[in-house]
Amino acid sequence: MTHFLVTGGSGLLGLNFALAVDGKAHQVTGVANTAPMLWATFKNVQLELTRPGAVEEMIETHKPDVVIHCAAMANVDACEADPVLARQVNAELPGTIAAACKKHALRMIHISTDAVFDGQKGNYREEDEPNPLGVYASTKLDGEKAVLTANPDALITRVNFYGWSAAGNRSLAENFVHNLEAGREMMGFTDVIFCPMNILDLSALLVEVAGMDLKGIYHMVGNEAMSKYQFGIRIAETFGFDAGLINPVSVKESGLKAARSPNLSLSVDKLINALGHDLPDFSEGLKKFHDQHRRGYPQYIKSLV
Ligand SMILES: NC(=O)c1ccc[n+]([C@@H]2O[C@H](COP(=O)([O-])OP(=O)(O)OC[C@H]3O[C@@H](n4cnc5c(N)ncnc54)[C@H](OP(=O)(O)O)[C@@H]3O)[C@@H](O)[C@H]2O)c1
Repeated sequence: MTHFLVTGGSGLLGLNFALAVDGKAHQVTGVANTAPMLWATFKNVQLELTRPGAVEEMIETHKPDVVIHCAAMANVDACEADPVLARQVNAELPGTIAAACKKHALRMIHISTDAVFDGQKGNYREEDEPNPLGVYASTKLDGEKAVLTANPDALITRVNFYGWSAAGNRSLAENFVHNLEAGREMMGFTDVIFCPMNILDLSALLVEVAGMDLKGIYHMVGNEAMSKYQFGIRIAETFGFDAGLINPVSVKESGLKAARSPNLSLSVDKLINALGHDLPDFSEGLKKFHDQHRRGYPQYIKSLV
């Protein structure tokens, strides 16, 4: 049994990871920040991790085998509005956690993002030069560097995922479902490309790599690249919604001011070689997302935070 400590335990990834992994085979302790998780089935605590001494306290108290660092300021607009806090949370905190993991000889998996690239090329490999656009992406890239400097044995995974969140609106997939089931029209960008992975598949892969001797940077995204428009269409088809409600538009015509990276598809060859097997199929992942919806998981996860 591995004891995982997951920061960002109330967030989209941390909460889904904890719910999926905590049980007979493994134990998960979730660390939340502002929101108490009174009804969560896994062990959890509240800690503001940028407070001096908080990281050491967290590790000393819970003595995990593996730390998965999901906590971040992941809202792009919030990062632009408060770049000082974004730097503290996204760039400095990962280095503090990495150093503490090294001191206590713990395995650390740090969650980073496909957004470290500018999206001009696509199919990025791990050795390609990042060029982050905006405060969120540049602080996340600095977080990667801080982790590798403090703890070269740490594993950094650049991810892109979708799933159901406690907030109900943390992933694009949720927004597609909420609008389409209400019969509302939506825009779908035809010229923004990414590789989404189901959060349950990502959680299983994180458990798998936790038990392997991988260090440095690995891309851990879905194995199918698609536009946001195509993603919406696939969701509509899987859920039986009217795909005609999604209007194909160019991001250039959308009126969005923030810089957008057009092609954030990532190569996953390095990960596949290390694992010795292919990554989970995109359509199967979407079926799991739909199945959770049918079983009332979106309401359940909202009730936990
Ligand atoms: N969502 C995506 O599609 C996506 C794509 C690529 C990469 N990522 C990366 O994946 C990771 C998880 O993202 P997510 O979508 O799960 O984010 P999220 O839903 O916004 O959750 C972030 C979590 O971090 C916690 N947190 C923030 N500041 C903290 C602090 N000072 N101390 C302790 N906890 C703190 C939050 O708690 P409070 O809310 O209470 O502050 C929350 O639990 C992040 O590293 C993100 O950069 C996400």
